[in-house]
Amino acid sequence: MRWEEIDVGEPGAGEVLLKQTAVGLNFIDVYHRSGAYKLPQLPGSIGMEAAGVVEAVGPGVTEFKPGDRVAYAGYAPGAYTERRIMPDHRLVPVPDGIEDNQAAAMMLQGMTTEYLLCRTYPVKAGETVLFHAAAGGVGLIACQWLKKIGATVIGTVGSDEKAELAKAHGCDHTIVYSRENFVERVKEITDGKGVPVVYDSVGKDTWEGSLDCLQQRGLMVSFGAASGTPPDFSVNTLQFKGSLYVTRPTMLHYVAERSDLLKSAKTLFEMVRNGLKVEVNQSYALKDAAQAHRDLEARKTTGSTILLP
Ligand SMILES: NC(=O)c1ccc[n+]([C@@H]2O[C@H](COP(=O)([O-])OP(=O)(O)OC[C@H]3O[C@@H](n4cnc5c(N)ncnc54)[C@H](OP(=O)(O)O)[C@@H]3O)[C@@H](O)[C@H]2O)c1
Repeated sequence: MRWEEIDVGEPGAGEVLLKQTAVGLNFIDVYHRSGAYKLPQLPGSIGMEAAGVVEAVGPGVTEFKPGDRVAYAGYAPGAYTERRIMPDHRLVPVPDGIEDNQAAAMMLQGMTTEYLLCRTYPVKAGETVLFHAAAGGVGLIACQWLKKIGATVIGTVGSDEKAELAKAHGCDHTIVYSRENFVERVKEITDGKGVPVVYDSVGKDTWEGSLDCLQQRGLMVSFGAASGTPPDFSVNTLQFKGSLYVTRPTMLHYVAERSDLLKSAKTLFEMVRNGLKVEVNQSYALKDAAQAHRDLEARKTTGSTILLP
């Protein structure tokens, strides 16, 4: 990655020029940088979320005016920049009481948590669920959200320090999967029953074990691949492991309609107003994005991370 001057131009019809105040770091940025996910063009920019202030609006923009505080997540890559032109329909107004840094840190991880827990598999009070990488950005938000629903949370983490952090954010049972067999521990915790849903963003390393943690007719939500892409599998596996379901969701499809985007953001903002904490545990200068990537990939970060332009 290289820091370069470019001309962002003027906003056209339906577009807004943003002065970005904080950019969110997400694991998808690593997939875009490494080539695991293709960028629309090269050379290009990466980054999927930011917060900032509207500087200028193009013809036909009625919802926003210069000076408005906005944030976004779930549009084309290109957030690693000081200024950016965005289509107005992908922006969300940031309410008073939510700071820019917090907004930039939580839009993608928070709206992901919303769709995963409320729409992909609507978790009910009293259910026990398995959530991998529980001390990460999505993980810490999800632990708190699941507690608010009234679920029992089993979370996997890479170290004892991360286990403490996850517990402090509502995780009932932590499993240090680098040294413990998480399938055995989940069976122990659930009296041999398994869980109705597994949220797996680790991918390759946990895929097989996650399927083995499910109850009959349980749902495997494979929503990321921090350790690598999960293996191809025979559909018959789902029969033999208990008539299982599998889905591979992505936030883009859950907030594609503007009404869904605004509803998801509203639910997230309400959660934050009601006490959910977005832990911005790392911040870097945007120019140091390469170091931020190294730390994220080396599993050195916890909670959310922002890059400051
Ligand atoms: N599908 C969607 O809509 C969607 C949206 C947002 C995020 N995601 C996915 O959700 C996951 C979490 O995203 P995030 O931005 O919040 O990142 P994060 O959880 O803060 O960071 C990734 C974590 O994954 C764990 N991990 C396990 N094996 C790893 C490996 N080999 N290399 C690196 N990390 C490994 C690490 O935690 P431990 O040390 O505790 O294992 C690491 O801290 C990512 O997989 C991301 O792609 C998906």
